[in-house]
Amino acid sequence: MNSLVNIDGFKIYFHEKSKRIIKIIITNETIDKLIFPFNKFNVNNLEYKPFTRFTVSKSLEDLSNNKLGSFLRSVLKDRNTGCVFFEPEQKISKIDQNFLIKLSTAISHLLGIPNHDSMSGKYYARFSVKHEDSSDSYLRKAYINMDLHTDGTYVNEETDWIVMSKLEEKNVKGGETYILHLDDWEHCEELSKDHVGRQNFVWGSPKSKNVNYKVEHPIFNNDKKGRPEISYIDQFPEPKNMEQGSFLQKLSDALEESKYKIITELPVGSIIIANNHFWLHGRKPFKENKNLSRELLRIRGKFN
Ligand SMILES: [Fe+2]
Repeated sequence: MNSLVNIDGFKIYFHEKSKRIIKIIITNETIDKLIFPFNKFNVNNLEYKPFTRFTVSKSLEDLSNNKLGSFLRSVLKDRNTGCVFFEPEQKISKIDQNFLIKLSTAISHLLGIPNHDSMSGKYYARFSVKHEDSSDSYLRKAYINMDLHTDGTYVNEETDWIVMSKLEEKNVKGGETYILHLDDWEHCEELSKDHVGRQNFVWGSPKSKNVNYKVEHPIFNNDKKGRPEISYIDQFPEPKNMEQGSFLQKLSDALEESKYKIITELPVGSIIIANNHFWLHGRKPFKENKNLSRELLRIRGKFN
């Protein structure tokens, strides 16, 4: 298969399940070449010294002859695509969790600046899903569906893009990721034009998110070209009345029943990047297993 675009060190295709998703395979050679520059820093360095995040990002960009960054930004901003899956060519032992944190950092800094993640107090957050959980949101509940949503609904910062990386997975069945592009959704026209979806909603968040304020914004907005964008998660809007409550229920049902959700299993080491204004993401429940363990990393931010 021919690469869609020629960028040294990467193989680039449409995803098998949708032409809206661009799949970028990182060749083993590129992984090898990243080991040395990535080893100059440990994860603490990246956390404490923001400029080192740009240094690892530049190492990645240099390897692509300065083509990867502009390609990623063009795909992420293109309404017809807006989503990239990165996968290593082969699962190799060099791709450990530290390597993946550095790679995700490098990729995110080609897109723009990450937002401060209040949940972790860092520019990224890692979170695990295990058999037992006592937390206060669906994020870590293994056996409950995490419904389609966008990120950053309850914070002041804009969240233009999200990077989600799978760091670890053990004893896992189920838990597939699923995503939906707004323009594929059967009910987009009807619900994005409904006046209730354009009203301000109040968005709060549970304690674990460490956000001590509430925000107000509508669920649907238009972009500069008049196309609808969505900012929505089921758990955090605080409906003021029956009209808002009923609208949220209708919206939730209409999203989950969509036939156009793209459901995929993501291997460890894979990284999803999506435009957060017109892609929604969710996760299916896992099959019960006492030794279940999965860890993800997320970075959310703004375009430069
Ligand atoms: Fe999310």
